[in-house]
Amino acid sequence: MSKTPLPHSSPPETQAQQLEKKQLAERMSKIKHKLIVLSGKGGVGKSTIALNLACALALTDRKVGLLDIDIHGPSIPMLLGMEGESIEVVDEVILPVRFAENLKVMSIGFLLSRQEDAVIWRGPLKMHLIKQFLKDVDWGERDYLVIDCPPGTGDEPLSIAQLLEDADGAIIVTTPQELALSDVRKCITFCRKLNLPVIGVVENMSGFVCPHCGKKVEIFKSGGGEKMAREMGVPFLSRIPIDPGVVESGDTGKPFIYDDAESDTTEAFKQVIESVIELEKDNSQAKRRRY
Ligand SMILES: Nc1ncnc2c1ncn2[C@@H]1O[C@H](COP(=O)(O)OP(=O)(O)OP(=O)(O)O)[C@@H](O)[C@H]1O
Ligand SMILES: [Mg+2]
Repeated sequence: MSKTPLPHSSPPETQAQQLEKKQLAERMSKIKHKLIVLSGKGGVGKSTIALNLACALALTDRKVGLLDIDIHGPSIPMLLGMEGESIEVVDEVILPVRFAENLKVMSIGFLLSRQEDAVIWRGPLKMHLIKQFLKDVDWGERDYLVIDCPPGTGDEPLSIAQLLEDADGAIIVTTPQELALSDVRKCITFCRKLNLPVIGVVENMSGFVCPHCGKKVEIFKSGGGEKMAREMGVPFLSRIPIDPGVVESGDTGKPFIYDDAESDTTEAFKQVIESVIELEKDNSQAKRRRY
């Protein structure tokens, strides 16, 4: 008598699915570290932090890939002054766009013909595109892949967390006010459910030093991110002030970190980069702590 499949058992993988999985694993095996930049709320500075981290790592002679999976609002091309760049496809392999020595970039923004084009896609299609970005993009041998996500814990972060089984973890960006922090707690819970380590929390837009009187003003308050990180038992990486130089660098497409001027903001960015480089010392899966 033939057995009726159990209602909850997932269908067996087709040969095509198995091949896809193998191709993805092969491509990703050439990348040593994978970092996912997340946030609970929008506009808190994820893309800014992701690109400055990628550029800073590339400046240290590490080979880096920067992948923008913000399908509805890809901002990496604009923040890097790369609008109008388009990608090349050779023998079904997508070539990422070179931004600088050691840094290759991929974003859906390169596939849109105009800046204002909108992408209307449902979950499964997004998962498919993200899989293609990992499997079919010729990243080559890389030390790091930094992945910039859209805000929240929707289809894109879920897809990337599921597709990258060996990601080093997530860097969670927040602003200091309570409204933003409550969403970060959700983000940390999301990581825990998916067994994705939390590398740490960055509190961005934390205080502003008035260039005229030198007085520090806590526009969105300050210190909330650190307190929340302590409460949730995850590392706190850095507190980055509001700095008009960061806005200017984003608007002109020149990464802030390229400007060597010494400032509290530069120091704060460096702290994030140092925490990431520290991870290299503790690279083995077995030693890795899952927060
Ligand atoms: N520390 C900072 N000081 C001043 N401006 C900042 C700072 N960090 C980010 N910004 C500016 O805030 C704006 C939003 O930043 P960004 O695009 O990086 O946020 P995001 O979290 O990626 O947004 P989204 O959720 O839409 O993807 C940009 O104009 C950026 O230049
Ligand atoms: Mg963004």
